[in-house]
Amino acid sequence: MTISPTPTRDAGTSRATATGARSPALPAWGRGFAALTRTDPELAGLLLAEAERQATGLQLIAAENFTSPAVLAALGSPLTNKYAEGYPGARHHGGCELVDLAERTAVERARALFGAEHANVQPHSGTAAVLAAYAALLRPGDTVLAMALREGGHLTHGSPANFSGRWFDFAGYGTDPDTGLIDYAELRALARERRPRAIVCGSTSYPRHPDYAAFREIADEVGAYLIVDAAHPMGLIAGGAAPSPVPYADIVCGTTHKVLRGPRGGLLLCGARLADRVDRAVFPFSQGGAQMNTVAAKAVAFGEAMAPSFTDYVHRVTGNARVLAGALAAEGPRVVTGGTDTHLVVADVSPLALEAATARRRLAAAGMVLDVCGLSPGPARGLRMGTAAVTTQGMGAAEMERVAALLGAALRGDRPEGRLRMEVAELVADFPPYRAGG
Ligand SMILES: Cc1ncc(COP(=O)(O)O)c(C=O)c1O
Repeated sequence: MTISPTPTRDAGTSRATATGARSPALPAWGRGFAALTRTDPELAGLLLAEAERQATGLQLIAAENFTSPAVLAALGSPLTNKYAEGYPGARHHGGCELVDLAERTAVERARALFGAEHANVQPHSGTAAVLAAYAALLRPGDTVLAMALREGGHLTHGSPANFSGRWFDFAGYGTDPDTGLIDYAELRALARERRPRAIVCGSTSYPRHPDYAAFREIADEVGAYLIVDAAHPMGLIAGGAAPSPVPYADIVCGTTHKVLRGPRGGLLLCGARLADRVDRAVFPFSQGGAQMNTVAAKAVAFGEAMAPSFTDYVHRVTGNARVLAGALAAEGPRVVTGGTDTHLVVADVSPLALEAATARRRLAAAGMVLDVCGLSPGPARGLRMGTAAVTTQGMGAAEMERVAALLGAALRGDRPEGRLRMEVAELVADFPPYRAGG
């Protein structure tokens, strides 16, 4: 193994090493990895192997990123030991004075970052945030409009395999088959016909900015709530590289990972009017005690996202995605919507006579990791990739051109997979996600 178990990418973060030798002042829990190598070498080896996998391949999964060492430190802190059902100042457990401060800090930072009157930072995941939004506004059986699943709607937008599809009556809107853009006329007609209690705006793979004002207007026309599931663009919104849904939505649901680069988790934003309903929909309705280490890590990530360097980062993320989309189109795939406004690039590989699943396997064998996703119209699937992680690693436009060339070579089968694997390894070697000694 060549990877240091201790990320040291940013200044001001832990410098513990596997042995703890360079940081004798660290508390015992800060030397946790060293302890793990002794007490559970099997798991320690697995963790190191995963760190190496992340560092030696091209991580193009659009929902992933590399959190900072500061976020990792908060996640691995003793706050994980603390039970804290309820909200700051109104807990069902004693000893919450300090975790109350952590949660208040997270809430205040989230409110400031997104310009929202109210924030709830407790949802354990994006799915938990969406569940709570529905619980706050809907009753079982209510009609809800959301982007159809095959067009990029998330499982929580009405999949029969998910609570959403079982408990609510979902109808799916879609995109124009020619442009790939949301068909607002179809959405309006569907809203008039179905008179939904809520309209959900959000997707796992839509690479353009939704028109939040149009969604609001359609929702108002039919007397529906507007729920924006901004799980993907949350980081872009925080850094000013995407428009904010906050002025338009009744509730905004988000994730704190993805482009936002925090811990795995969810987030809810709303106006003061819905604050109590949203809080009660999280606890006690759909969750128990908040995970206070994650709440603290969210506060750290929000703090990082308030820095000018994060604004610069998200603009580099979208710039890289635009370069990647353009260069990939020149390699043969069709780029859906002809480009991107966000971190997402969606590609149809059928012009290369390939199925998406085969393409993904081929790319994985060459060290390039990404997802398949739905393509409109019809049952065909495409490839979804994102630039959040590679941008955190420091890659720029020149590397995006190189990534597109590597993707093209692997898709066409120009060179043996082993050879491409080496080329990928050479590229990423200059961009370690966590630098030793930093
Ligand atoms: C639009 C959307 N909503 C919700 C989620 C769920 O997030 P999680 O995986 O944290 O539950 C995702 C995850 O990718 C998503 O893309």
